[in-house]
Amino acid sequence: MNNWAAEAWRGVVESAPEGIVICDATSADCPVVFVNAAFVQMCGYPAAALLGTNLRILQASDRDQDARVRLADAVSKGEPARVLVRNYRPDGSMFWNETVIQPVRTEKFDRSAGDACIRRVSRVIGASYRRGGDLVGRWEGGTFAVLTQGEATEKATQYAQVVRDRVRALLMHHPTAGAGRYVTMSAGIASLVPPRTLPLAGLLKACQSALRRAKKNGKDATITAEAADFQDLQLPATATASPKPSAASTTTE
Ligand SMILES: Cc1cc2nc3c(=O)[nH]c(=O)nc-3n(C[C@H](O)[C@H](O)[C@H](O)COP(=O)(O)O)c2cc1C
Repeated sequence: MNNWAAEAWRGVVESAPEGIVICDATSADCPVVFVNAAFVQMCGYPAAALLGTNLRILQASDRDQDARVRLADAVSKGEPARVLVRNYRPDGSMFWNETVIQPVRTEKFDRSAGDACIRRVSRVIGASYRRGGDLVGRWEGGTFAVLTQGEATEKATQYAQVVRDRVRALLMHHPTAGAGRYVTMSAGIASLVPPRTLPLAGLLKACQSALRRAKKNGKDATITAEAADFQDLQLPATATASPKPSAASTTTE
């Protein structure tokens, strides 16, 4: 499936008139990882309350049901099922929910979904650094390198946070991400005054050290390189003179 098709499928599922949920049977207690608008409307719970939760929440205290036992059996065996189960909205009103379970065996984040995700993030990063002299490239995997000139470290860091917010605002579901379960971005920032020959490799190294710390810090973080990160360059990490070129390497997670 190419990226266009992946995005198109997502649009179709999101706007389908039937309620559709995707649960991750490989995670503990089979949490919801995707829910479409029709399901939200049917059950009355906001998507945020369902994501990361087992759908037994909809049974409230009405657990003594044959349908519930059949669902438990089907889920434990990884088999399809079709049952009529009594479910309840947050206001306590009951509705009959014809629940059809169809197991789908797939990688957690299959290649086409991963590629579509990286393309969307790269569009955000590319659109965020468009001044003459800005250089944006994919570094490796989900990591991008940005080289931008004339930005003081503080300004570059603040702006990276804006870009981080833009990536988060895409609200791309991530099946294994922690808080929020959305794709997030971390950034490592390093800046220096160029010597006669700019040691770009060293600048990138400093970025990568900062990035490693950002990811270690729980992801969705922005970290600025410290003097120690520039050791190989044998240059001061910060200098008072400006303009300063700065490089930000960013990564999606
Ligand atoms: C994809 C999927 C969709 C489900 N949808 C519902 C649902 O809409 N309503 C419901 O009561 N249970 C639903 N379930 C079943 C519950 O998540 C759970 O498996 C069931 O309550 C049996 O497990 P339990 O006895 O541990 O509660 C769904 C399960 C899966 C895997």
